[in-house]
Formats: sequence, C-alpha cells, structure tokens
Amino acid sequence: MIILDGKKLSDKIRENVKKEVDELQKSGTTPGLAVILVGNDPASAAYVNMKSRACKEAGIYSIAHEMPDSISQENILDIIHMMNKNPNIDGILVQLPLPKHIDTTAILEAIDPNKDVDGFHPYNVGRVVAGLDGFIPATPYGVMELLKEYEIDPKGKNVCVVGASNIVGKPMATLLLNANATVDICHIYTKDLKAHTLNADIICVGVGVVNLIKEDMVKDGAIIIDIGINRLENGKLVGDVDFENVASKCSYITPVPGGVGPMTIAMLLENTIKSAKNRKQKA
Ligand code: GUN
Repeated sequence: MIILDGKKLSDKIRENVKKEVDELQKSGTTPGLAVILVGNDPASAAYVNMKSRACKEAGIYSIAHEMPDSISQENILDIIHMMNKNPNIDGILVQLPLPKHIDTTAILEAIDPNKDVDGFHPYNVGRVVAGLDGFIPATPYGVMELLKEYEIDPKGKNVCVVGASNIVGKPMATLLLNANATVDICHIYTKDLKAHTLNADIICVGVGVVNLIKEDMVKDGAIIIDIGINRLENGKLVGDVDFENVASKCSYITPVPGGVGPMTIAMLLENTIKSAKNRKQKA
C-alpha cells in the first residue's frame, strides 16, 4: 500500500507558485486574491485563514472581507462588484456555505467568471464539463494532480464518486469522466452504496461521514481518495474512510490529514496565478 502524500506534492506546487509569483512581480504584476467570509462558522474561518496564510507565503496579495451573519445579500453583492472592478484583484472567493437568507447562486453568478478562481460560476462549470479551459474547483483539481503525480491514469477504470455536491462530487466526476474513466456517482439516495464501491478501481469520497467506507466495501487493490474532513470529539481529524481497516486492502490511499486537504490550498493558488497571467496577457 502506498500513501498518496498530498502534503509533499502541495509543498512542491507551492514552491513553484512562489517562483511564478516572483516572475510576475518582476514584470509588474502582483497576483491578488479577495476572500469573502460571512458569519462565524469556525471551520470556514479556519479555511479562510489557511488560504490567506498560503497567499502570504507565496507572495500573493490577499484581502479578507469578513462580514457578520446578519449582512444583507445586497451588501455582499456590493463587495463582489467592487472586487470585480478592482484591477489588483485576480481571484474572488466566497467561502461556502453562506447563511440561509443569502441566495448562493446569485452570489456566485455575480463573480466575474475571469476572477472565479473557485470555479463555481456556471460559466466555468460549463466550460469544465465541455472539456474546455476554465477554472477547475480546487479540491477535485487537487485530486487529479495527486493521481498524476503517482502516475495513476483513470482511463478505463471504474470510479465510484461518493457525494454529489457542486463543490466536490460533481466536478470530481466530471474531471474523471473527461479523463476517460467510467464513473458512478453515489449520494444519499443511492440504494446500495456497497454494490457501487465494491465494483470500483478508484473510490473518491467526500461527504463528511466518519467511517462511511469500511473494509468490506472495498475491493482488493483499490485506490482510495478520501476527501472528507471530520473532527472527532477528542479533536482528532479524520476522513470518511475507516483508514485503519481499509488501508491494508488498497494499492494507494490518501491520509487525513495530509492528503487531499493541502492540495486544495495549492490548487487555489495555482488558479490565482493562472488568472494573474491572463490579466498580464490582456494588459
Ligand atoms: N467550502 C468548502 N470547500 C470550499 C471551497 O473549496 N471553496 C469555497 N469557497 N468554499 C468552500
């Protein structure tokens, strides 16, 4: 069994991003990212902090707009319009989920697709589905890069994606389909999850359920990508896979922490650089 080391690959990517930022700066462009955080969910605040810190380390200019839960949709839209117009900002990221009184679709559609480094705007969603160049959501993008690093080609493989969210499951399935895998997408209404996972050469799971994927649901030699992040009562971070019992059956597996999580941050930086390069080209 081989551990897919996302920490190691993300460090390599972040070093590379730093070099690219240096190059861009030499020619007068400092990449910039605006992060919008609404409310006081501790997990969201922690993610935003990590993203801001990663930007700083890479030399990317970042601004965090932190707003209370009670903020109106119009006020969030005003900030987005401002960031759309700001020539120093290449990427705009609205941390999800948003409070219930906010229309998430309206917020995501207000972001300039050219600055949509999360790849959540329908324009980029459509481009990625069509196999065209566009911003790819960071988490599934990170998974694809991790597979590439370990020379795992999804072509012709049976893949089971567990979870069908717009952020992870759907774009994950799309990228794997574009890489010529045969993809099952399972979700909360799937009748017999085990039947799907047992048939899979690669399982990608990200639903936030501790120990959802157990030993008897995995075929020998399978590749396991654990996108779940759950904090246990004792403070320990775990994924959606019963790692201790599943790992010995796998050919490859991602740990939690240190697997997909660090890749998400690295790919966000990559997307921000891509946007900054586009800006430079247009100048
Ligand atoms: N919430 C959970 N994951 C993500 C992500 O990748 N981007 C944003 N904006 N919000 C998230």
